[in-house]
Amino acid sequence: MTNHTQVDATQAVHFPPGFLWGAATAAFQIEGAAHEDGRRDSIWDTFSRVPGAVADAHHGDVACDHYHRMPEDVALMADLHLASYRFSTSWARVRPDGGAVNPLGLDFYSRLVDELLTRGIAPWVTLYHWDLPQALEDRGGWTNRDTAYRFAEYAVTMHEALGDRVDVWTTLNEPWCSAFLGYTAGVHAPGRQSREDGLAAAHHLLLGHGLAVQELRSRAPQASLGITLNLTVADPLDPTDPRDVEAARRIDGQFNRIFLDPLLRGAYPADVLDDVAPYGLLSHVKDGDLAVVSTPIDALGVNYYHGEAVSHRPPPAGHSGQAPVRRPTSSPFPAAHDAHSHPRGLPVTGMGWEVQPEGLTRLLLRLQEEYTGPAGVALYVTENGAAYDDVPDADGYVQDDDRLAFVDAHLRAVHDAVAHGVDVRGYFAWSLLDNFEWAWGYHQRFGIVRVDYDTQVRTPKASARWYSSVAQTNAVPP
Ligand code: NOJ
Repeated sequence: MTNHTQVDATQAVHFPPGFLWGAATAAFQIEGAAHEDGRRDSIWDTFSRVPGAVADAHHGDVACDHYHRMPEDVALMADLHLASYRFSTSWARVRPDGGAVNPLGLDFYSRLVDELLTRGIAPWVTLYHWDLPQALEDRGGWTNRDTAYRFAEYAVTMHEALGDRVDVWTTLNEPWCSAFLGYTAGVHAPGRQSREDGLAAAHHLLLGHGLAVQELRSRAPQASLGITLNLTVADPLDPTDPRDVEAARRIDGQFNRIFLDPLLRGAYPADVLDDVAPYGLLSHVKDGDLAVVSTPIDALGVNYYHGEAVSHRPPPAGHSGQAPVRRPTSSPFPAAHDAHSHPRGLPVTGMGWEVQPEGLTRLLLRLQEEYTGPAGVALYVTENGAAYDDVPDADGYVQDDDRLAFVDAHLRAVHDAVAHGVDVRGYFAWSLLDNFEWAWGYHQRFGIVRVDYDTQVRTPKASARWYSSVAQTNAVPP
C-alpha cells in the first residue's frame, strides 16, 4: 500500500485556481411530485411499492418536495456559495412512457437551469440516475437493447431543451448499481435477480451512454461530456496470499474495469470476460458496439465512498461485509463466493461503510495513470460524503462534526492526488440535502443540509457552513 496517507490535517491546503466546488442530488431522491404534471411511474416508484423492498415502505411521492421548493433550494445553494449544482433529470417526467415528450416535465428543468444561472451557479446535468420509466422496464428495461436507443433519444430531448444554457452533461450515474444491484442482486429497482440480466443491462447501459455521447457531441462540440462511475479500491486482505490477490482482482474487475475498460480502452478486459463467460455477456455485444461505447469523452466522474479489503475467506461471524444494499447477494461472477469484504477496524459511517480517505488518493492516481491520462480525460469527484445519525437541536441545527471530518479528510485526499499531478478539477458533496437513500428510505441522511420531512424545513448543518467557507476560499482550513 502506498503511503499517501500522511496528510497533515493541521495545515491548510489550497486547491488550484478554478477548482469547481459543488453539491449533488438526484431527481428521484429529492423531487417528489411523483404524479404531477404528467410524470408517470419510474422503476423506483414501482419498486418502492413492493413489500419489503424499501425500509419501512418509504417512497418518493413527496421526498424533499424539491419540485415545489426549487427556487428556495437554489437560493440555499447560492447562500452556501456553491459554484456548481449536479442534479439529474427524470426520464419519467420528460418522456413518461419512454416515448412522447411531456412539455410540463421539460419546463421544470428549464426553470431550474434559469434559476441556477440567475444565481451564478453552473448547472451540471446527469441524464440517468436510476429512474427508468416503468413503461420501458415493461418492455425489458436495460436487458432490452432498444432501451439504449430510447436513452439516446431522451438525451437529445434534454439537449434540445437545455443545451443553450447547460455546458456539462453526464450520461449515466453509477451504471454498476443500475445493472448489478438492479438486475442481479435485486436490492434496487427493478429488483430482478439474474446474472445474465445484470450483464445484459451493463452492456446496454454502456451502449446507451455511447449513443448519447455521439448525439450530444454532434449538437454541442464544445460541451463537456462524460459519465460517472462508482469505483472502489480493492486491496487483498493478505497481499501474500495468492487467493486473496485473486479475490481482489475479481472485485476490481466487477466494480471498476468492467466499465472503465470498454469506456476508455474500447474493450472488455479479458479476465472479466473469462469470469463471466457462462452468462452471455458477449451475446449482447454487436459489431461496432465497443467503438460506440468508447466514443471520446471529456470528463470522468468518480463517486467514492469507501474501498474494500478482500479475501477468499468469508469475514468473521457476525460481519456481513459492507452494508447489504451496496453488495449484490448473488454476484454476476462465477466463484465470487470466493471474494469477500472484510472489516479492517476502521471507523464506519451510518451505512456501515469504512472511512478510508487514502483510498481516494490511490484511486485518482491509478485512474490518471491507467485510464484518464492516456485518454486525455479530466477527473471530477462527482460524489463523496457520509451518512451519520444526526441529532438536531431544538432549532433543527446539527453539529455534524463526524460528517465535517469525513469531508475534510477526503478533500485532503483529493488535494494529495492533485499535488501528485492528477488532473482532478472539482468536487461535489453528496448530498446537498438529506434525501431518499434508495433501499434505506429516509433513514440514512447524507445531506450537508438537514431536511425535516414533517415540515420540509431546510437547515444547513455545521458541515454545510464549513464547506461553504472551503468553496469561498478554495482551501481546506487547518
Ligand atoms: C451513490 C448514488 O449515486 C446516490 O444516489 C446515493 O444516494 C449515494 N451514492 C449514497 O449511497
